[in-house]
Amino acid sequence: MSDLTRNLQVSVLGAGYLGVTHASCLAELGFDVITVDTDIARVKTLSAGELPFSEPGLELLLRRGLATGRLRFSTSYREAARAADVHFICVGTPQHRSSYHADLSQLSSCIATLGPLLESPCLVVGKSTVPVGTAAGLASQLAQLAPAGEAAELAWNPEFLREGSAVEDTLRPDRIVAGVQSRHAEEILRRVYAVPLSAGAPFFATDLATAELTKAAANSFLATKISFINAMSEICEVAGGDVTVLAEILGADPRIGAAFLRPGLGFGGGCLPKDIRAFMARATELGVGDALAFLREVDSINARRRTRMVELTRDLVGGVFPGRTVGVLGIAFKPDSDDIRDSPALEVAAVIHDLGAHVRVYDPVAMPKARRSHAQLEYAESAEAAAREADVLLLLTEWPEFRNLDPGLLGKTVAERKIADGRNTLVPEVWREAGWDYRALGRPMLTVAFAT
Ligand SMILES: NC(=O)c1ccc[n+]([C@@H]2O[C@H](COP(=O)([O-])OP(=O)(O)OC[C@H]3O[C@@H](n4cnc5c(N)ncnc54)[C@H](O)[C@@H]3O)[C@@H](O)[C@H]2O)c1
Repeated sequence: MSDLTRNLQVSVLGAGYLGVTHASCLAELGFDVITVDTDIARVKTLSAGELPFSEPGLELLLRRGLATGRLRFSTSYREAARAADVHFICVGTPQHRSSYHADLSQLSSCIATLGPLLESPCLVVGKSTVPVGTAAGLASQLAQLAPAGEAAELAWNPEFLREGSAVEDTLRPDRIVAGVQSRHAEEILRRVYAVPLSAGAPFFATDLATAELTKAAANSFLATKISFINAMSEICEVAGGDVTVLAEILGADPRIGAAFLRPGLGFGGGCLPKDIRAFMARATELGVGDALAFLREVDSINARRRTRMVELTRDLVGGVFPGRTVGVLGIAFKPDSDDIRDSPALEVAAVIHDLGAHVRVYDPVAMPKARRSHAQLEYAESAEAAAREADVLLLLTEWPEFRNLDPGLLGKTVAERKIADGRNTLVPEVWREAGWDYRALGRPMLTVAFAT
């Protein structure tokens, strides 16, 4: 392994979910990696071997990287520029505060700081998700800023990792996309990814624009698939069908596939919502907004699931929220993550609180973050504690531990045996047999029994 990685020194700029995962995995693969973040507290935490967020398996790699000396953290761009010949940009590209556009200020500041420090030939590789055309702009900016001139080359290598399985996705990616402007850049990226490539990961060398677009297109497709099945859920609710059965049958068609066809509360997190909006905004700028008009509907369907969940809860508590207690299971935007960015679960909990209910939530890992941003909610130490004296229980994030809840035991702690399953993750018959009024998005109110 060492001969594959020899002589290639790497820096990672931005130590968030993406940056820490990328840096720790590269250190695991044998590279020397310096990771820079502008947040001093974060650099201290990471240098002490602690993750500022939750990601399965990552802390182990972080600690191993620190212990071997192959991984270190710093706030100094100068140190990174001096130490590395490949620089990965992993800073955030959140949604702009007042529009659908991506806010590229972290990226601009990263290039403005790094560029003037690049005195010798190097490759700067963007991994952040950006609107198409960004990389070309940054490439010329870099050539102007860097004392090395055009020898400071830019490439784009979009990231497809999923929070919750980020380590596995990084060590064993299902594809590697390299948007490059030269064979030299392609060769460097092939060296960086030599281990996954030797294990058979497909490698796609493209131009910069295609590389940027692959990420936007992939997220748009995934969001569309989720909203498609949730649109079917809306139809099922009025027509009397069962969307979970419908999804299973659709998924059995290999042309469609079962992945991302789970009906429920919809998508959220730090990527899908802002990425489809930034894609729409960019397409409009390019004069082809009509091509992505469907994404507006994808976004609306997604938002309607949250509203529908609030309405369903209101029905279950008798039409009024004040004076009612609502127990909420799950706050993270998805299981195996503590990410609460644009979390459907947290939004539903917060809206119900604003409508006057007393909301008590439990999540296995996301509560410290949620407490900081949503201090108005009450936080419980277990699912049972969240359910205590609740007039209705909501399951909003499909953590595996919630699947194993005992409806009989839980029924003894609630005020009313009423549950709304926002992720279609429980077995309705089991809950109904235990005396619960079990409700879910897109499913009949009662279990249908067929005559045998
Ligand atoms: N999180 C994911 O699952 C994921 C997956 C694929 C792609 N992406 C993309 O990766 C990018 C990063 O996402 P994230 O979730 O890691 O974001 P994040 O907000 O968790 O991390 C961004 C980090 O960059 C740091 N930063 C800000 N400005 C900086 C600067 N000028 N120099 C150095 N550091 C700076 C911040 O302090 C923060 O630690 C985004 O474009 C996102 O769309 C994320």
